[in-house]
Amino acid sequence: MKVGKVYIVGAGPGDPELLTLKAVKVIKKADVILYDKLVGSKIVEFLKELDKEIVYVGKNSGEKGSKRQEEINNIMKKYAKEGKIVVRLKGGDPFVFGRGGIEVEFLAKEGIPFEVIPGVSSINSVPTCAGIPLTHPGYSSSILIVAGRDDVEEWKKTPLKGTIVILMGRDTLDSICKNLISSGRDEKTPVAVVENGTLPEQKVIVGTLKDIATKTKNVKGPAIIIVGDVVKVRDKLPNFNQ
Ligand SMILES: C[S@@+](CC[C@H](N)C(=O)[O-])C[C@H]1O[C@@H](n2cnc3c(N)ncnc32)[C@H](O)[C@@H]1O
Repeated sequence: MKVGKVYIVGAGPGDPELLTLKAVKVIKKADVILYDKLVGSKIVEFLKELDKEIVYVGKNSGEKGSKRQEEINNIMKKYAKEGKIVVRLKGGDPFVFGRGGIEVEFLAKEGIPFEVIPGVSSINSVPTCAGIPLTHPGYSSSILIVAGRDDVEEWKKTPLKGTIVILMGRDTLDSICKNLISSGRDEKTPVAVVENGTLPEQKVIVGTLKDIATKTKNVKGPAIIIVGDVVKVRDKLPNFNQ
């Protein structure tokens, strides 16, 4: 029997106009689309208007990621073995903190044909849409990208200069800031938290390592944290994207 094909596709940070042309092309030819929690609601609306099978496979709260991953792998396999074209749609870029690597390892092991379509990652697009260049002459020429849930010890190794971009750090921001200060970063270092970046409900909260955790207590949506002098560039752009 003919085996189908799985496309592991990046959906970008949420704004539907940041879906790539290639992503739209494969979505249109898919038989079934498996999508994650971080895929923007407007994109999900667009998927639902297509005459296709659409399956939500995102993690529910409290659920273990590894168990869910096993289930997703089996769902991809089931449809591919039925000869279907499957689009596995993931937030941002599938290979950036997105388990895309685990999924392609699985597909390769199972002998299922696959293709990976990169997406616009939140890492750079969210700061850009908030008016914060991650590098800027005289401010920073390096970027460190970290997952906020990483072991606290890791924070002691961060460089004292340059921009730090933190994903999945919303709930651990207080300890992240304390660790950065105890590792030698000045407590007055500017920090921005961008919630729901690229979407109409985007919010940007600016503070310092000392006070940002208090200022962002009510942030509940997906958020990117940017640490470093580049945050100050935003003050020079009052008419940014107006
Ligand atoms: C599991 S990671 C997935 C990252 C994704 N693969 C990418 O390339 O953007 C999820 C984290 O990405 C960040 N994120 C994704 N979309 C975002 C958005 N629209 N606004 C702010 N942060 C976002 C948040 O830090 C969130 O906790």
